Amino acid sequence: MRELKPGIYEVGALDFDRRLFDEIIPLPDGTSYNAYLIKGSEKTALLDTVDPAKTEVLIDNIVKAGVEKIDYVISHHAEQDHSGSIPEILTIFPEAKVVTNPKCKEMLMDLLCLETEKFITVDDGEELSLGDKNLKFVYIPWVHWPETFGTYLKEDRIFFSCDFFGSHLATGNLFVDDEVVVYEAAKRYYAEIMMPFRSNIKKNIEKLSNYNIEIIAPSHGQVYNKPKFIIDAYKDWISDNVKNEVVIAYVSMHKSTAKMTEHFVDCLIERGISVKQFDLVTGDVGKLAISMVDAATIVLGSPTVLAGAHPLAAYAAILANALRPKTRFASIIGSYSWGGKMVEQLTGLLPNLKVEILEPVIAKGYPKDKDFTAIEELADKILAKHKELKITG
Ligand code: FEO
Repeated sequence: MRELKPGIYEVGALDFDRRLFDEIIPLPDGTSYNAYLIKGSEKTALLDTVDPAKTEVLIDNIVKAGVEKIDYVISHHAEQDHSGSIPEILTIFPEAKVVTNPKCKEMLMDLLCLETEKFITVDDGEELSLGDKNLKFVYIPWVHWPETFGTYLKEDRIFFSCDFFGSHLATGNLFVDDEVVVYEAAKRYYAEIMMPFRSNIKKNIEKLSNYNIEIIAPSHGQVYNKPKFIIDAYKDWISDNVKNEVVIAYVSMHKSTAKMTEHFVDCLIERGISVKQFDLVTGDVGKLAISMVDAATIVLGSPTVLAGAHPLAAYAAILANALRPKTRFASIIGSYSWGGKMVEQLTGLLPNLKVEILEPVIAKGYPKDKDFTAIEELADKILAKHKELKITG
């Protein structure tokens, strides 16, 4: 249990040891499921709960905060890492009502089998008084589900933002104490969770500019007592600006694609283009996602396997397509021995990307001089395209 301000507590759970979220997202620094307790002069509200695996921690923290009665459980988001302990809380505090919006109510009934009588639904902008503390609900859809909203605590100027501005970071320090560390974790979180909804996030950030916010308290990671830091970072990530950067994600079976990747990376560096290289066998897909936030160009490297792309290259293409980065150009390098449709397969997996596909370079067997020349030409083309965007130094 950690105190934000008098009468306002973080009562959620740290999960230092969790290493995977949604069975796909790496968590190098663990995560936290933040839940907040606000004691007003007349009513007490619990804002979100925790992942079901950590219900006991939540209950212990509520007890430590000296609370005997909860009037409202405000559920900002139906995903179970924040809603999963609601049934247990309602068992312990049967008088509590779940305050949420109509869409989230429907989801909570589907996901947690809660009964309709348990709910109070609220609209965007509606307020709820706890006595000397007053809450205003602010819809922030698509960060990253459609039902999500936040709560603005008017007297203390705290915005409880749910997943928005979150980071997967487990640390005992409640407030941001190292902006470099938090920047990386928050960018990773943005890349993996928020990036597909960039245009919705733009609207939500504009909406928040109407509020005087001194503290942003997200549902994962540390609390921002200097919120400009994370708002400015988000404004950069959601902008249309891309960087003079190429992400090359590759897999190689017999060193042909690896040799091509090596030469390609050298060519890009020689031309003053930043490069992020990822071996898809051993790399951290979270790092790959982070690198896609700003890069002007993404290149996939793949051998041809059973007449198609290597499954790991297909995985990277599906990931890029799902994350919808603002990348402008894409290409493919790789190899084949006897034929196949590797290029067609990979480009077909990228329908969501608004990219220009630059001429792929595919070697027959181990790359020869003409293949290395073609790679140099691809690097030249990328440089020319980046120059057109006026992003080169
Ligand atoms: Fe942290 Fe979308 O749940």
